[in-house]
Amino acid sequence: MEVCVVGTGYVGLVTGTCLAYLGRSVVCVDIDERKIQMLREGKSPIYEPGLDQLITTGIQRGNLRFSTDLAAAVKASEVIFIAVGTPPLPTGKADLSYVKAVAQSVGRAMDCERRRIVVNKSTVPIGSGNWVEMLVKEGLQENAAFASRKANGAKPEDVFLVASNPEFLREGSAIADTFYPDRIVIGVTDGYAAERLRALYEPIVEQTFVPPASAPRAADVTAVPVVTTDLASAEMIKYAANAFLATKISFANEIANICERVGADIKEVVRGFGLDSRIGPKFLNAGVGWGGSCFGKDVSAIIDIANEYNYEPELLRSTVTVNKRQRHVPVLKLQEALKIIKGKTIGLLGLAFKPDTDDIRDAPALEIARELLEMGARVKGYDPIANEACARQYPDLKIEYASDAVSLAEDCDAIVIVTEWEEFQYLDLAKVGEVMNGKVLVDGRNVLDPVAVEAAGFKYRGIGR
Ligand SMILES: NC(=O)c1ccc[n+]([C@@H]2O[C@H](COP(=O)([O-])OP(=O)(O)OC[C@H]3O[C@@H](n4cnc5c(N)ncnc54)[C@H](O)[C@@H]3O)[C@@H](O)[C@H]2O)c1
Repeated sequence: MEVCVVGTGYVGLVTGTCLAYLGRSVVCVDIDERKIQMLREGKSPIYEPGLDQLITTGIQRGNLRFSTDLAAAVKASEVIFIAVGTPPLPTGKADLSYVKAVAQSVGRAMDCERRRIVVNKSTVPIGSGNWVEMLVKEGLQENAAFASRKANGAKPEDVFLVASNPEFLREGSAIADTFYPDRIVIGVTDGYAAERLRALYEPIVEQTFVPPASAPRAADVTAVPVVTTDLASAEMIKYAANAFLATKISFANEIANICERVGADIKEVVRGFGLDSRIGPKFLNAGVGWGGSCFGKDVSAIIDIANEYNYEPELLRSTVTVNKRQRHVPVLKLQEALKIIKGKTIGLLGLAFKPDTDDIRDAPALEIARELLEMGARVKGYDPIANEACARQYPDLKIEYASDAVSLAEDCDAIVIVTEWEEFQYLDLAKVGEVMNGKVLVDGRNVLDPVAVEAAGFKYRGIGR
């Protein structure tokens, strides 16, 4: 089956590369020529464990190609994924301009020789499936190939159908999430589209493929459930999932803040209530709050959609409020421990919004750094992967970048663990403490043992403990 994936970001590139691994013939398209050039050379423009190797495999097998020519890629494909960004506008609405440009171009490019499926993989507001259908039709109006078929009685649905196939992968484990998803959601208006997408994903659904070395199959993975539904429900499933996960984290942070006041330890509390099978322990880690490219924008978008339909989603608004407040908590702890922030040197351990990615979109570290700089502190930063991305994307943010945890700690009055990279769990506290000016450690992710940190001579401040 021939597939075109438009947008080679975290979602598009991983989807295209994994589908090629499964034997599909894939062309990944992007407007960013630099990215396409890198990809043709077998280099991934993003950091995602195991991805480089799979890209190289696809290129060598000859069924994974990269192009800036959308029209040619559409002509060569049966299934066309739209996987471009849908970033937030200042109003909270999703910016759909990239989706719009692609949908219209797809309509203009189709040769109308076969029936194609145009699949929205980008996270889009409810109703976007119908809107994309309208835009592809608009493109078709300018399409000479369709004009001649129309003269013979052809209708738009004879040459394309729209589907929604929201993505649930997590950056940092995107490849395993693609090969072994909890479910595949397919929103359609027509059984034919559902059947073709089911066929596309068959090796994943049935788990019949040989796993790549970088993503072995766990013993308990068997068949993957497919949820086939209507377009609006598929779109809503994605928003509901992200809104729920963001709410779960905000809930843990709210409880953590109460724990701190009453003398309870959030880690113990979560251990106790997370064991309840109705609740589950995941996404209950108290810390400096959620970030990343999805939670903030998707919760804002669902709030905006609700408002458009005259509904005030109080719970979701609180999810956002609690998160905003939580990012400020490390600064409050620094004030409490150091008293004066002005003139102090603070080191931030971790800049990416979570471990195992170089993605710094809406990362809590950015806000914490900004706040400390405004208060007159000197801010140092170290991330195992994201230093370069941060320096490139935020040249005005006056962070001094360090190449490892010990050089970050040099001259610091306090250090803050902002991202729970695994290496921070094994910090050499003696070495770190030796080069510091003061010995304050704010554990913004509760990854260290307070007793061990204090035994090493630090003042320890966790979240909710
Ligand atoms: N990142 C995640 O973890 C994640 C998870 C699930 C869903 N999503 C959703 O998937 C979508 C894509 O997210 P992402 O993180 O991969 O985005 P991204 O910003 O990393 O990548 C988007 C890519 O699209 C390209 N692009 C923009 N306009 C284009 C055009 N007209 N033609 C071709 N390429 C074009 C950009 O150059 C960029 O490479 C978003 O809607 C997002 O909400 C993301």
